[in-house]
Amino acid sequence: MTYFTKIIILLGSVLLTVSSYGQINTGKSGKEWNITTVSSVYQLKVSSGGDVQFVYYGNKLQSDKAQGSMGTEVPVRGGYVSALPVLEVVFPDGVRDLELEYVSSGTLNVDGFETLKITQKDKFYPLTVHSYIRVLPGYDLIEKWVEVVNTAKKGSVKIENLQSGSIFLPENSYELTHFSGIWGNEFRPNTTPLTQGTKTIQVRDFKSFGSSTFFIRPEGENGAQQGEVWFGSLQYSGNWRVDFEKFFRGNVQVVGGINFWDQELYLKPGESFTAPRMVFGYSNAGTDDVTLKLTSYIREQLLPEKHRDVIRPVLYNSWYATAFDVNEEHQLALAKVAKEIGVEMFVIDDGWFKGRIDDKAGLGDWTVDKNKFPNGLKPMIDQINAMGLDFGIWIEPEMVNPNSDLYRAHPDWVFYFPNRQRHEVRNQLMLNLAREDVYQYVYKSISGLLRENNIKFIKWDMNKSLTDPGFMSAPSDEQRAVRIKYVENLYRLVGTLRKEFPDVWFEDCSSGGGRIDMGMARFFDFNWASDNTDPVERIFIQDSYLSIFPANTMISWITHEDWHGQNHPLEFKLDVAMAGVLGIGYDISKWNDEEKAIAGEKIARYKDIRKTVQFGNHYRLVSPYENNRSILQFVSKDLSESVVFVYNLAEYPKATSLEAKKTKIVRLKGLDPDRSYTIEGIQGLFKGDYLLNYGINFPVNGAFKSHIFKITAQ
Ligand code: GLA
Repeated sequence: MTYFTKIIILLGSVLLTVSSYGQINTGKSGKEWNITTVSSVYQLKVSSGGDVQFVYYGNKLQSDKAQGSMGTEVPVRGGYVSALPVLEVVFPDGVRDLELEYVSSGTLNVDGFETLKITQKDKFYPLTVHSYIRVLPGYDLIEKWVEVVNTAKKGSVKIENLQSGSIFLPENSYELTHFSGIWGNEFRPNTTPLTQGTKTIQVRDFKSFGSSTFFIRPEGENGAQQGEVWFGSLQYSGNWRVDFEKFFRGNVQVVGGINFWDQELYLKPGESFTAPRMVFGYSNAGTDDVTLKLTSYIREQLLPEKHRDVIRPVLYNSWYATAFDVNEEHQLALAKVAKEIGVEMFVIDDGWFKGRIDDKAGLGDWTVDKNKFPNGLKPMIDQINAMGLDFGIWIEPEMVNPNSDLYRAHPDWVFYFPNRQRHEVRNQLMLNLAREDVYQYVYKSISGLLRENNIKFIKWDMNKSLTDPGFMSAPSDEQRAVRIKYVENLYRLVGTLRKEFPDVWFEDCSSGGGRIDMGMARFFDFNWASDNTDPVERIFIQDSYLSIFPANTMISWITHEDWHGQNHPLEFKLDVAMAGVLGIGYDISKWNDEEKAIAGEKIARYKDIRKTVQFGNHYRLVSPYENNRSILQFVSKDLSESVVFVYNLAEYPKATSLEAKKTKIVRLKGLDPDRSYTIEGIQGLFKGDYLLNYGINFPVNGAFKSHIFKITAQ
């Protein structure tokens, strides 16, 4: 092979890689861009005045209707402020206005996806702004983020606000759907018209019980299977905000990122700061399609790579069985039954560490409680492993109880302001993880725990909201950046632990589902969606959760805890929990043979269907928010298997009820129209086409009755 042939082959393969992911078309002038995904187009151009203008984002087929520029790609505080700013700075001489002009652009490959980088700088002051647009064409998604560089030789620039990105929607009347909640009531959907003015969703204290994910639809387009939807979410786990500004003409601007309420950052000469990513998408096929795009993206692009394709184990968690009263004998008794019924991972929850007899003491001292485990954890873990179970453990590493050795030695390691009360929640304070000494302490404690014990699973909890965010020992220009630094160190900590202990699973918990977002999804394999284990409540929480996140991230265990005194049957609870990553949280050492047999059978059933549940696409066929019924369908990637979960929330069907009629014959989704399928428990062989377009009646009658139907291609 000649030297030249080699070069041509090399060039060819470079071009091939570029074009196979490349969807960014640069116009002839080199100063306009047409960015396409399967359904959408995003258009930008540089104006004659040097502004980078946002022209259009939406349906590919309607882009010719774009009427000039809607705003700038990076709106700033400066001049005529007609849109919400993405960037607000103060220069050392006190000037607070920015004037950006286009400098250059180029594309780069960021983790396999083509990314447009546009560089602008201030017309006078030494400040450079790079905006990034990473295109994930198949998912119909784009990620945006902004980087600011202080290129001065001297003098710090104060950043008063830096958002991840902004988009504008074409003129129309829109409705916004977002999710909010409190402890035990996570992910409750809210839909509101966007009227003129600004609607903000935000978190100021690190806990949301909801989500930064949003769906915006033209008014009246509420079908799950049709109509336009713009949607997005932040990849950030600290204080975040998303603003929706509706202008008089009908355009809507969406801006999101770190919540700069009570925050500021100083960039010293040569320093830069990069905002976290915001992901945006567009679909013209309704909210079901949005769910498909978001869940595939999270499953295939965000989740920690090591476990991305690994089947999630069936869990046991001891919290509801024991609370703080844990000891070796009882844990082993629980593990023995857990093994008998088919559990694979045994997780000891709170209560195992020094002084932890209740929630008043112990957090911060991550050594075993010798009163409860005189010989340490090792003999217990060895016996649990000998039974054929993996072992997992609960920690709450970001917290400390004032009644702990750690706090007695380092009362200054928490967030506090002098002369101000230290606000406790659940008798605990939050460690200031922005401090390097705190970071090192927590890292050493948790890595030591993992090194010394055969731990394969961490349940990482965070129960207190942020209060008193004082960091008085830091230089004054760093004090108000403490939350940002905290989150950086949180990601660094889990990232470091994951690298060092690649086989360990990490579960994200924050008083249930208090901190579930796409930032955590990059470091945690799954979430504990709620402490609320009532199966009916759970059906609602799960329905919302599954509109954004894939089922393999949703841990769901059943407990004896009877939230509303309803005494729901074990079978019903298990069927509900099987729509995610199944777990058991009863005191199973007290179970009789019948209970063990029911759980054993259901767990075996779960193992049979879990590949489809955990890795398949899912569809919310019947919403509990609209009907007395919830139906979820999962379809395997190769379309050969589907699993349908039917949950009745009332006596069902009521012959006269309109809802019942509407949901009795249910059209399935995602199947191959040309293949024939059998449905367990229903006689016949059905063409995919028939199931997709006519539908089928799933014969489940009676209140709080459920059934799981496996559908198999022949
Ligand atoms: C939080 C979690 C629970 C449990 C307890 C332990 O409330 O949400 O699941 O782990 O802490 O104290």
